[in-house]
Amino acid sequence: MCGIIGYVGEREATQVLMTGLNQLEYRGYDSAGIAVRTGGNLDVRKRAGDIETLEDAIEENAPTGSTGIGHTRWSTHGPPTDANAHPHTGEDGEVAVVHNGIIENYGSLKEELQAVGRTFTSDTDTEVIPHLIEQFIAGGASPERAFREAVDRIEGSYAVVATFANSDVVFAARNDSPLVVGVGGDGHYLASDVPAFLEFTDQVVYVDDGEVVTLHSDRFEVTTTDGLPVEKSVETVDWDVEDTGKSGFAHYMLKEIHEQPTALRQCLSGRVNELDGQVELDGLEAIGQPSQVQFVACGTSYHAALLGAQRLRDKGIPARATLASEYAVSPPPIDDSLVTGVTQSGETADTLAALREARGRGARTLAVTNVVGSTAARECDAALYIRAGPEIGVAATKTFTSQVVTLSLLAEYLDAGDADGALVRERLRALRDLPDLVQRVLDDSRAEEIADEYVGSESYFFIGRGPNRSVALEGALTFTEITYEHAEGFAAGELKHGPLALVTDETPVFTMVTGNDEAARKTVSNVKEVEARDAPVVAVTDGKTDVEDYVDDVLALPGAHPSVLPLLANTQLQLVAYHVANQLGRSIDKPRNLAKSVTVE
Ligand code: M6R
Repeated sequence: MCGIIGYVGEREATQVLMTGLNQLEYRGYDSAGIAVRTGGNLDVRKRAGDIETLEDAIEENAPTGSTGIGHTRWSTHGPPTDANAHPHTGEDGEVAVVHNGIIENYGSLKEELQAVGRTFTSDTDTEVIPHLIEQFIAGGASPERAFREAVDRIEGSYAVVATFANSDVVFAARNDSPLVVGVGGDGHYLASDVPAFLEFTDQVVYVDDGEVVTLHSDRFEVTTTDGLPVEKSVETVDWDVEDTGKSGFAHYMLKEIHEQPTALRQCLSGRVNELDGQVELDGLEAIGQPSQVQFVACGTSYHAALLGAQRLRDKGIPARATLASEYAVSPPPIDDSLVTGVTQSGETADTLAALREARGRGARTLAVTNVVGSTAARECDAALYIRAGPEIGVAATKTFTSQVVTLSLLAEYLDAGDADGALVRERLRALRDLPDLVQRVLDDSRAEEIADEYVGSESYFFIGRGPNRSVALEGALTFTEITYEHAEGFAAGELKHGPLALVTDETPVFTMVTGNDEAARKTVSNVKEVEARDAPVVAVTDGKTDVEDYVDDVLALPGAHPSVLPLLANTQLQLVAYHVANQLGRSIDKPRNLAKSVTVE
């Protein structure tokens, strides 16, 4: 995710901003920049690439001044280039802006601003903000009024911070994206995260949605968007600078598991209209209306692809998922297929090879990825972004849920002919409610207790049917990857065809049973089979069947639409894997022998 730092005070702003950007590096980024008020001008320096590249760009003649803003960008609209890096300016030299989040109505605002003669120089959604502000200033508004008017016009999620050529004040506002004020003896700070200014002050004020911050050198004010004053309390943070990147979590993986509600909101933002049952996905013109879809992917992304393929088949669109490393061995006929690579990093060699193979045979290709400008995104005919934000832990967690939700949106998008609009709206409502439901699972989970109980077992098995089979496979992969223990996922119905021979009282079996359809009822029968072999059974269930009568422990799921229950079950399994690995003292964020991005076949 992008990072923000702002400063007004007595220090050299460039030094404060660069320190802040270095502290924000852990979040992942692909470009960085600063804007410093020097006299009555704004000196903007920004570069694609790492902070060292930006440092090189300012080394010789660093901007001097004591007011400024800085940003690390993680691309969502447009690839990582100098022009797309923040801060963004208008064309009158009045204002520079940094922004985290997504401006949903940027398309219509851009058209409106272009119609009055404003020229855009980037692909970003953010650039509409400085143009809007300058448009209001040109109409006679003060910087503060212009900032407020601009914030009033934008829709979506944002933490937005602006610095002005003709005012020694920094303004900021937030909606659904974090923003925090730092209160120092030598000035005031603004950031997306405390670590950005922790070296200078540990006194913080958390900004809430719908609030506007005015930052002066010697004071700050928080008001509502209507200008009414808001009382805020200053808190002291006692974080260790070493651990700040993890925002108080012991590991990145745990932090990323807890980021899932935010990541999902970001994934859905501006894409769903559940009232008219429409899904809008930008940039997919090149894929047309394929008659079938072939997914290629590896590891966790393959499990997401299995779920995606099933969702398409449920809607009558032929779809299959193939392990990317197997694709070229016996490639399926292309016919009128859209070959879709599902890859968080966009750099996995096996997935790229499969996509190239398909392209070489005439297929249209689509990349479903988290990384704008990645090789998969560049090489495919179109790219669809999962918008999960950077994932640092090697184990894929939030990117898995965001992949599945993105593929669910793709299924709705491709199925333009679905006759039953009511069903579509119901599924879209379920996706809208999913972030809150994941939060409930995170708040109420007994996973740590379950981990305490079963850590040290001989092997761990995960079973489920249909979508819950994919969750079982994913649960076992995550568990193996970070605990170094033997774990396997099976289709529940396959147990009796072989794996049952492995089941003993030393092998806990995690079973996913959601809803009360035939698949769920048959899975309960499979539970009875393992229970009869004395295996401890943990049911991950919404309690719609009588499975609880046959198991030793339950990880409860809240009531939800059947289409999202597997993702809630997966969240429980992520937590179980994390807590078992933690008890075993494993290297959770960087498990042995594994890499985040696998760039060899
Ligand atoms: O970047 P990708 O999604 O293409 O990566 C594919 C796999 O290497 C990846 O999903 C891996 O299985 C996960 N780290 C497991 O948690």
